[in-house]
Amino acid sequence: MDKLHIRGGTPLEGEVRISGAKNAALPILAATLLADSPASVGNVPHLRDVTTMIELLGRMGVSVTVTDKMRIEVDASTIRECIAPYELVRTMRASIVVLGPLLARFGKADVSLPGGCAIGARPVNLHVDGLRALGADIHIENGYIRARADRLVGTRLVLDTVTVTGTENLMMAATLAEGETVIENAAREPEVVDLANFLISMGAKIHGAGTDRIVVEGVKKLHGTSYDVLPDRIESGTYLVAGAITSGHVRIKGTRPDHLDAVLVKLRDAGATLGIGPNWIELDMRNRRPRAVDIRTAPYPGFPTDMQAQFAALNTIAEGTAAVTETVFENRFMHMLEMRRLGADIRIEGNTAIIHGVEKLTAAPVMATDLRASASLVLAGLVAEGTTEVLRIYHIDRGYECIEEKLAQLGAHIKRIPG
Ligand code: EPZ
Repeated sequence: MDKLHIRGGTPLEGEVRISGAKNAALPILAATLLADSPASVGNVPHLRDVTTMIELLGRMGVSVTVTDKMRIEVDASTIRECIAPYELVRTMRASIVVLGPLLARFGKADVSLPGGCAIGARPVNLHVDGLRALGADIHIENGYIRARADRLVGTRLVLDTVTVTGTENLMMAATLAEGETVIENAAREPEVVDLANFLISMGAKIHGAGTDRIVVEGVKKLHGTSYDVLPDRIESGTYLVAGAITSGHVRIKGTRPDHLDAVLVKLRDAGATLGIGPNWIELDMRNRRPRAVDIRTAPYPGFPTDMQAQFAALNTIAEGTAAVTETVFENRFMHMLEMRRLGADIRIEGNTAIIHGVEKLTAAPVMATDLRASASLVLAGLVAEGTTEVLRIYHIDRGYECIEEKLAQLGAHIKRIPG
């Protein structure tokens, strides 16, 4: 298994281009199953999770080609079987987003239960309950969700928990259902809006995406389209924190500042000076030590849980003491235990971590446990004295395109050691 060696102490300087959003690309690639003619998707990040989704579609017999311009062209008309096998789903739980499209377009889907992961149990009860309410006949047996439906029928759905992929699955299923579907307490993430825009470009009738009430008018069929995925707001936030934690000066381009409000507020509270353009953000923390900032995660537009680990890293060397509270997932503090190995002063009380900033961290071997935790360990390694070794970085490769190249472009001393 590959690992990263990071020699800390260099303030980052320079600019990086932000890639397409993983959490928009995955449901959008799944949504191509709904179209009765080929669809082309651009600005797709080159990530393990995207490769897994492409492999999943290919296993079903869907034809997927990657053009020389890295556009992904999908033609679902060649589909052979509506199955998402355990061996693929267990490597990427987001595979669950093929369930709604398969059921709506082909009337059947056998999708492996995703199972839990490092950050929590990750149940999919809201996906299943919602599809049942739309008229699907669903049995859970031998670790699979076996779903059948002649035609789904629109209805009013009230989600008791805000779920991103749950909202996405149900919105996709509703596009081909009979009549109107209303999704109350829907997720408002930009990736949900991007998926809705993709579906609308295929002829779907959707209103309210981005609010907590989405209304879908079912249509008979959806046609192919050509669409580019929005920029990744979590990658954007991660590189801004990289600039802040190293007291550097970085500029990210090809991003959407309007998707980062909660993160930008916290970066300013930490003492960063920010310049903001239509598609770029510049952060200046030169010659300053960040100030500690309290974090409490929440569904969008609240502070993103996917940025919690990165701000935990920032707080480990900040001036002062901060409380980091995780309200979305039940076990998303694994990175805190690893950061203690670097000398961080962290006390965990339930779903809150009290972080007292220290003058400096010192390098040590640390282990990545999940995608964003691994990113936070890389950030900590950028400031730790000495060379930090981050193990199991396959977690990173799932969600960050060319992370060592982009950080090296900003002046970081980082090297991938093939394992
Ligand atoms: C999406 O996961 C993202 N993944 C996650 O990003 C992100 O952390 C999460 O949303 C929250 O923003 C993708 O979009 C591919 P949820 P998802 O359903 O949809 C509970 C990353 O790092 N819940 O919004 O799986 C659940 O347990 C990943 O890129 C149920 O109880 O998350 C959690 O407590 C990590 N029943 C809460 O809802 C359900 O049926 C939010 O989960 C579904 C969810």
